[in-house]
Amino acid sequence: MPKSIIIKKHGGPEVLELQDVNIGTPGPNEIKVTNHAIGLNYIDTYHRSGLYPLKLPIGIGLEAAGKIDEVGSNVKEFNKGDNIAYASIPLGAYSQQRVIPANIAVKIPDGISHEMAATLMTKGLTTNYLLTKTYKLKAGETVLFHAAAGGVGQIFAQWANSIGAKVIGTVGSDEKIKVANDNGYEHVINYTKTDFAKEVLKITKNKGVTAVFDGVGKKTFQGSISCLKTRGMLVSFGNASGPLDPVNVPKDIQPKGLYLTRPSVGQYFTNQKELQEGANQIFEKVKFGKIKIRIFKKYKLSEAKNAHADLEARKLLGPTILIP
Ligand SMILES: NC(=O)c1ccc[n+]([C@@H]2O[C@H](COP(=O)([O-])OP(=O)(O)OC[C@H]3O[C@@H](n4cnc5c(N)ncnc54)[C@H](OP(=O)(O)O)[C@@H]3O)[C@@H](O)[C@H]2O)c1
Repeated sequence: MPKSIIIKKHGGPEVLELQDVNIGTPGPNEIKVTNHAIGLNYIDTYHRSGLYPLKLPIGIGLEAAGKIDEVGSNVKEFNKGDNIAYASIPLGAYSQQRVIPANIAVKIPDGISHEMAATLMTKGLTTNYLLTKTYKLKAGETVLFHAAAGGVGQIFAQWANSIGAKVIGTVGSDEKIKVANDNGYEHVINYTKTDFAKEVLKITKNKGVTAVFDGVGKKTFQGSISCLKTRGMLVSFGNASGPLDPVNVPKDIQPKGLYLTRPSVGQYFTNQKELQEGANQIFEKVKFGKIKIRIFKKYKLSEAKNAHADLEARKLLGPTILIP
């Protein structure tokens, strides 16, 4: 029987349990997949902890890559043996084998491994929509990205550089400064030691940046507001330090006429065609060397508890996967 990580209650990494699961056969619009690599994402910790509450018990994990074992009778886009990746609900990607709706999968082209695909789906699709749809980044602009050495952070600056834009990054420790620089950040600020908003204003000669991409949330919100230009945009896309407090529009937004958005991947890739197009754009960038991915660490699926503990302790310096 295949094994899967299940949670029966919300809590710390200790609630992640490896269990045998009965997965059955795919329905007409489903496919059965053997996962070869599973993407570790910060959102998995929100599902586990209950920050994003779930109906329990449930398998967790959004993202994996593998091979199709069986296709449902209505599925035309895929065949048995295809290499595919996915990064979407229904949760349950932390598993050796599972049945998923066919419309959340994309084909992986030759030259992209399962391990690479499993790091690229969530982080790459996120970067894709943040830079091309939420905020259409242009050559010559300078923007700010928080947690620059993290999974999304490493792809973000490389993609922004490929457009001709510059990125200032923040990191939580000195050892992450080099990691962020190596991934294309023009300036890197250790925000645990330095007031990042003042530093950004200094770097931009008091002009501020046109956009801030903030996956850190609670701790960085005020600083992000203060280093934006007039009519700048705060893209708040995550809560690594905790969710935002309610926003005081007259105090925080009105003075500079700012834009504030809180987007997520599913709002930008709403069907299989859009997903495949979005994923192909990422795979192309990787194949042509515009984005270089260095997987920082691999854990066995059975070590998911350790992976979550290290992620939350800010010990992971880049994309990380679980191997089933
Ligand atoms: N909305 C969307 O569509 C979407 C999609 C994907 C990801 N996200 C969000 O994007 C962010 C990055 O995701 P990721 O998977 O690539 O994770 P990650 O950046 O690899 O890990 C999160 C990072 O947040 C930073 N951080 C700041 N304060 C923290 C705290 N109190 N506790 C723990 N970490 C803290 C840490 O970097 P430093 O030590 O350098 O501060 C940590 O490495 C997350 O907030 C995630 O939820 C959103």
